[in-house]
Order: sequence, then C-alpha cells, then structure tokens
Amino acid sequence: MSRIFINYRRLDTEGYVGRLYDHLLKQFKPHDIFMDVQNIEPGADFVEVLEDAVASCDIFLAVIGPHWGSLKNEAGERRLDEWNDFVRIELESALKQSKVVIPVLVGGARMPNPSILPESIQSLSRRNAITLSHSRFATDVEDLIKFMRDMLPSHPTFKRKANPAVLAEKEEKLKQVRMDLINAKDSPLYDFRVQQRYYPVIGEGYADANIMIVGESPGKKEAASGKPFVGPSGDVLDEMLASVELARSDVFLSNIVLDRTPDNRDPNTEELDYYGVFLDRLIEIIQPRVIVTLGRFSMVYILRKFNLREKNGKISQLHGTLIKTEAHYGDLHVMPMFHPAVVLYNPTKRDVLQQDFEKLTIFI
Ligand code: URA
Repeated sequence: MSRIFINYRRLDTEGYVGRLYDHLLKQFKPHDIFMDVQNIEPGADFVEVLEDAVASCDIFLAVIGPHWGSLKNEAGERRLDEWNDFVRIELESALKQSKVVIPVLVGGARMPNPSILPESIQSLSRRNAITLSHSRFATDVEDLIKFMRDMLPSHPTFKRKANPAVLAEKEEKLKQVRMDLINAKDSPLYDFRVQQRYYPVIGEGYADANIMIVGESPGKKEAASGKPFVGPSGDVLDEMLASVELARSDVFLSNIVLDRTPDNRDPNTEELDYYGVFLDRLIEIIQPRVIVTLGRFSMVYILRKFNLREKNGKISQLHGTLIKTEAHYGDLHVMPMFHPAVVLYNPTKRDVLQQDFEKLTIFI
C-alpha cells in the first residue's frame, strides 16, 4: 500500500517534487510513496487505474506550482479542463474518496481561487495548504513530514500511547534539562562550546518513546545546529531506522556526551562522568523500554549504570544482543550496536548494523 500519493504536473513542479521525494525517502520507504502511474495496460480504463492508485493511499499531496492552473495544451485549452488530465482526475478521485488531501504550494504559488477550478475539485481550495519555500525547503518538509506522521495510522506500539498530560509534563522536563545544559558553565566542554559558538545537543524525538538511542558525542554539524545525528552518521542512522519502519519522531535520540569534543576526539572520563548525569536525567524522564547504545562509550556507560553482567564485555561480542534488566519503572532492555560511523569507514559493517536494527522490531 502506497501511503503517500504525490500528485503533480511535470512541467510545473517536477524539480520540486524530486527534492520533496528525496526528503521523504529519509523517513519513508520507497514503496510508501507513490508518484507516477506507470504501465497502464493496453485496454485498461485509465480512470479506474488512477482511482485504484489513489484508493490505496492514506495521504494525498497535491503539489501546486506557479503554473499549475494555467498550463495549456497545443490547442490552447487549459490542461486542468482536458478530459484526460491525470492531475484533475486523481484529485477528483482523492476528494471523492475523502482522502486526507494536503495542497503543497511550491515556487511561490498561491492557493488557487475556487472560481478558476473545475467544479469537481473546487473543494480543494478549502483545504489548508502547506508552503515549501525555497530557502527553508528542508525545514518546511520536516514540518510536513511531522504532520503526515501524526496523520498516518502508525503501528499501535510505535509510540507509547501517552496521556497528553504526561507527554506535556515530559516535554516540560526536557526543556528544563536543556536549560541546565545551556547554562552548564562547570562543564569540561563549556568554554570550547562558547569559543566555537557551538550549541549543546541534548537530543530530540518523542518524549515518551519506547526506544531511546544513545550515540557518542555531537560532531561539527550537530554542534553547529544543536541537533543530534545530522551529519553523515545521521544519514546511516536514518537509513537503519527507515529499514525497520521507524522515524526519528518515534524514538528519542541522544548521546553520552552532549557537547562536541575538540577535534572530535574520544570523550575522556571527566566528560563521560559529567554528561552521564544529564543522560541519567533524560532516561528518567523518557523511561524507555529499550536503550540502544551506538558505539562503545555509550555501551559501557549504560551497562555500568545498570550494573549488568556484560559490563566488561566487548562491543564486537555484545552488539545485537538484547540484555534484559529492570529499571525502577519496569522492564528495560539494552541493545548495544556499532556506531553508524563505522559503516562510513567500513561499508561491510552496514549489513551487521542492519541485522542488529532488525532485532529491534520486537519492540515496534
Ligand atoms: N552525531 C551524534 O549526534 N552523535 C554521534 O555519536 C555521532 C554523530
């Protein structure tokens, strides 16, 4: 089932749609996104084929560029009014089937006035639109994805079904940790952060997630943006998450050290001890059912924190194993994994990491 249907006019928005597709692929699988009806069999009723394609989606994105409503065929007739205009037929079908139709405005386009639309699709004008601006494209797409994630029927156990009040309380507590971290002048990395104009990276994701992922320490890109895993390791991580149908917004992502270390060197004991207190607070707030550690520093910290038998083990032996323990709030599992950066140096490790991620599916 293609969950997201992208409806667009090639001549109007092909470039934007390509960009949008690339961004969506970071969060969804290719088979979740349906863009072009291909291979309509000879003899098939193309309207029925288009209707079937639309029927199988959950969300219909109507991408509208500046020429969406005005493009004409060689005879001077508006494409939108042609009897066989795929764009209009798909839209009619989505509206008739009461799909979630989201107009996505690109290239400075405005929402079309109903008076210029064929009657069968006039209700499109009443749908609230999302604008993807040129300068904020990535951020705007992120907002769109967030909205779609909330709309899409997700696996019931992806996210803990939090009481909204509990979720709000957790988000509030996370804000407090963030403030404390920003003001952590006694941190061994505070001066370096300020000199370099970096941000601390507390982490991000769902405040009531079942799965918490703990990496090592922010890299340059992370420290420059304040967001975890936005560099090359983050691309590998996104790929791994997507392979088990998880999005960043389903998990909580953080690190054992929450500031960048000079020259990206390994964290030292003082730093691990200092930031460990912050990580403990995050775990206490989120109360995950599984903690995935990426790399040996976070593995050792977590195995020691819970005083697990495996605490002196090597990552080469422990990766992909599910280690059961108890937290004061209930059962907890720890799953050590290799750090995604390993794949960047040694592509043969991609399969190993992938197989370890697959073991997470028992939680999702
Ligand atoms: N980015 C992070 O946020 N953490 C890592 O461990 C590596 C890159």
